[in-house]
Amino acid sequence: MSTSIGRVERVVYLGAEALVAEGEFLGYRAVFKLRVGKPYRIPELDREIVKRRTVHEARTLEALREKGVSVPRLLFVDPLAGLIVMEKVEGVVLRDVLERLDREEACRSMVSLGEEVGKMHKHGVAHGDVTTTNAILRPDGTVCLLDLGLSKRVEDIEDVAVDVHLLVRVLESSHHSVKEEMLRCFLEGYRRVLEEDRVREVMKKVSEIRMRGRYVEERRLGRIA
Ligand SMILES: Nc1ncnc2c1ncn2[C@@H]1O[C@H](COP(=O)(O)OP(=O)(O)OP(=O)(O)O)[C@@H](O)[C@H]1O
Ligand SMILES: [Mg+2]
Repeated sequence: MSTSIGRVERVVYLGAEALVAEGEFLGYRAVFKLRVGKPYRIPELDREIVKRRTVHEARTLEALREKGVSVPRLLFVDPLAGLIVMEKVEGVVLRDVLERLDREEACRSMVSLGEEVGKMHKHGVAHGDVTTTNAILRPDGTVCLLDLGLSKRVEDIEDVAVDVHLLVRVLESSHHSVKEEMLRCFLEGYRRVLEEDRVREVMKKVSEIRMRGRYVEERRLGRIA
């Protein structure tokens, strides 16, 4: 696609919910995120969901940016088409490099991730999908958060604990060899933003969620009645 204000050059990602392409928009290097519907949903409902998520992601990008959280700049949104155009963040997806960086650099990137997630939580927003795939490591060593479609207003401490819990699981499954150290670095950044008491409360809830998860798993495996 090419118009006078923008040009899509290549698809970089095709997920279950969205197609992401790179190109140019208003002279900026841009990313085009097009939410695609689900064929099994009733069409009207499908359109409504796509519209709602697109608006939600666009508004969240703007709101967080205003509060100083590192997220891509929003350039354009078309809710009916399910399209968001945003600044292309230069750098690499954290997941792809975390284990290849030297320990200090890896730690610094996780500290930065902890700071950004901490800022979100401080402003009462839970990310909803904190993974190393939804984080870009910029050349200057700072991290930019992506994929805010599942974010929500924090109503309960559980909402923020779920963010940390998911990250712990991602470290365990995708970055096993460095998981403990990377969690420590993440928490170092998280603590720079949030009060120690709050962090303690969050981590207590994370342990609770983990216990619950283990209990459910043990039951599933029939080890407990
Ligand atoms: N602004 C951006 N700058 C650079 N790369 C981006 C940007 N937005 C997305 N990407 C790339 O595209 C990938 C997918 O984007 P994103 O995570 O937003 O979509 P998704 O996971 O399909 O979203 P959803 O969970 O809402 O379906 C990212 O992991 C990243 O590699
Ligand atoms: Mg994603």
